[in-house]
Amino acid sequence: MPIDLETLGREAKTALESAQNLKELDNIFHAYLGRKGKLTAVLRSLGTLTKEERTQIGKEANETKEMLAKIFEQRKNDLLREENRRSEEKEWIDVTAPGKKLTRGHLHPLTLIQRKAVEIFQDMGFAVVEGPEIESEWYNFDALNIPKNHPARDMWDTFWLNPKFLLRTHTSPVQIRYMEKHNPPFRIVAPGRIFRYEATDARHEINFYQLEGLMVGKDISAANFKAILETFYQRIFQAPTKIRLRPSYFPFTEPSFEVDMQCILCRGGGCSSCGQAGWMEMMGAGMVHPNVFKAVRYNPGEWQGFAFGMGLDRLAMMKFGIPDIRLFYGGDLRLLQQF
Ligand code: DAH
Repeated sequence: MPIDLETLGREAKTALESAQNLKELDNIFHAYLGRKGKLTAVLRSLGTLTKEERTQIGKEANETKEMLAKIFEQRKNDLLREENRRSEEKEWIDVTAPGKKLTRGHLHPLTLIQRKAVEIFQDMGFAVVEGPEIESEWYNFDALNIPKNHPARDMWDTFWLNPKFLLRTHTSPVQIRYMEKHNPPFRIVAPGRIFRYEATDARHEINFYQLEGLMVGKDISAANFKAILETFYQRIFQAPTKIRLRPSYFPFTEPSFEVDMQCILCRGGGCSSCGQAGWMEMMGAGMVHPNVFKAVRYNPGEWQGFAFGMGLDRLAMMKFGIPDIRLFYGGDLRLLQQF
């Protein structure tokens, strides 16, 4: 008898018992008892045997088959239990563990100061407008009475994009854009980002934020400007703040002045934040120059007004006691998370 059922059975038993997972177990089972299985082949060949052989081998083969089926079931149950145990272990949830703390987002200090400043001017009847960060030479300079090749242009170190276009060096071009499309009287503020091609230090950055203001009417004077300024500072700082107006020069205003504020960080004593001056330059301002009105086809004999451009970064430095403008742009969470 060429078929050694005993060896076959033992071999299948060992294989089934050592199967490592359900798929492997199934494959092994089929290798013996599937359609083309080794034991199936024996059972199929019974018909070709003599009666005696058939009785004897048939009995043995059936017993082997039953034995293997039993081992298959048993191993299958073991593996299933094992798999359940493993996935339960993986999915186990510790319901007593403390919850994960969600961190809330917050606004950047420059956003906070811009929103506050805009809100105060809105309360005083100012409308809010905006202009583009890429400007033409006309809006950024010429229309503001800053002629080509005039030394006053050097007040604004410029990032040129090509011979005609640049990154705006101040928010003043928004004045021109607004006046071209609207008739006086009006009062507006225009917040926005501006760019300067210059070296950085505690008070200077290559980009920063300004809030431009412009109020035009029949009899607007510098006294109106001063009153609005006082209201503004009172509301921003909610405490007495020392302000001074200094005569200055800007091509688009006449007269021009600069507004300084006593440095909050050193209380006027002088520190690195204010360049040892004790005062911080907060904005340029003045009465709108007749040439600017002419550029937008207003009659300078009929209309007058004041304009100002305040640095929002410096305002935020004074408000929050931040010693260096560069901190606003460093993205350091140790600073930002305090707001
Ligand atoms: N644009 C000026 C600057 O960036 C600031 C300024 C000065 C704005 C006088 C004004 C103004 O509107 O009247 O240096």
